[in-house]
Amino acid sequence: MKIINLKDTQNKLFYIGGVVRDELLGTESFDVDLTYVGNAIEYAKTLENVEILKVNEPFGTVRIKVEGEEIDLASTRSEFYPKNGHLPVVCELGCELKKDVQRRDFTINALAKNFTTGEIVDFTGGLEDLKNKKLRVLHDKSFIEDPTRIIRGLKFSVRFGFELEPHTKNLQKNYLENVNYDMSFKRVKKEIKETFNLNSDLAFEKFREDGIYRLISKTPPNAPKTAISPVIKKYAHLLNPQNIWLIYLTAMPDIERLLPTFDREEMRIVESFWEIQNFCPQDDFEIYKMFEQKPVETVILYGVMTDLGTATRYLDKLKDIKLTITGKELVAMGFKPSKKFSDCFDFVLRKKITTPALSHEDELSLAREFFA
Ligand code: CTP
Repeated sequence: MKIINLKDTQNKLFYIGGVVRDELLGTESFDVDLTYVGNAIEYAKTLENVEILKVNEPFGTVRIKVEGEEIDLASTRSEFYPKNGHLPVVCELGCELKKDVQRRDFTINALAKNFTTGEIVDFTGGLEDLKNKKLRVLHDKSFIEDPTRIIRGLKFSVRFGFELEPHTKNLQKNYLENVNYDMSFKRVKKEIKETFNLNSDLAFEKFREDGIYRLISKTPPNAPKTAISPVIKKYAHLLNPQNIWLIYLTAMPDIERLLPTFDREEMRIVESFWEIQNFCPQDDFEIYKMFEQKPVETVILYGVMTDLGTATRYLDKLKDIKLTITGKELVAMGFKPSKKFSDCFDFVLRKKITTPALSHEDELSLAREFFA
């Protein structure tokens, strides 16, 4: 765990959640969460070496910067859910630590570590579950109040090789048989993104097999024709790693409920796949034209869902073929701009695809040949 230089004379500061879990598992943590038994915002203001970056008064949280490191500092709090599936509201800010951990998802995420003494504080049996590789919710309404925890469970089970203990598994099964779709799909998306960005076919398999897909759709996903993970690994250098999840997600038949949460680029990937998914190009020129201007994620999706050979043909052999002649040059050669220009480019492109070594001069003479 990184050394953080903070003063806590009153012994009220604790590492909490994922950072404690990860240290005990011996894996690296994505971020550091600290909780203060009391008002964290007021506490942060008393610290001399700290820059306050962002304050969220209603939740009693503050993002601070200490010696270049950004850290989330929360006030201990208890919560309740006025509306299941949506954000909780705070009941009590600055409550005892024991109450704070009760609002969390799994026992392994409810462990705290005293910032000063290093003592582990375990109110919920998290240490035992960590040892036995078990995911256990803290109360029976956990998934009803916050169904995103079902996807979080999937994420942790894939990341750490853990399993839901039988009672938790049963609660999950019961919820999935009776999903309340009035939920925050923005939060669902965040968890799906983190889970599928692990690029694990196992996560996708469990998503289908355990019925977790029901959180977003009543229709079960089709099995892709090809395992997704190796294809992504092969073309990882072409991909934005933040979009991997979309390749898995778009392999589902019905993602209607998540669409409103998508940004422009995400929408472009999905829509361009829907547009071409049933096309069967007959030669390299048609393959090129089908994928030209499409995001690489769409090409990979086509590969895993429709035809891998066609997608790899494009990515390995055709993608980098580019014409060097321009419309301006055609005009300079005395041709009048018209729809014929694009036919001309296609004519030259067909030749270039069969003979990629064509020079600029060769392309110009082919253009002349076309207009002749
Ligand atoms: N948490 C929760 N229910 C959620 C999301 C988060 O109870 N739906 C709690 C968990 O105690 C979790 C903590 O908030 O440990 C911090 O959440 P987050 O940073 O999302 O997860 P981490 O456990 O830190 O895991 P990761 O390593 O994926 O960041």
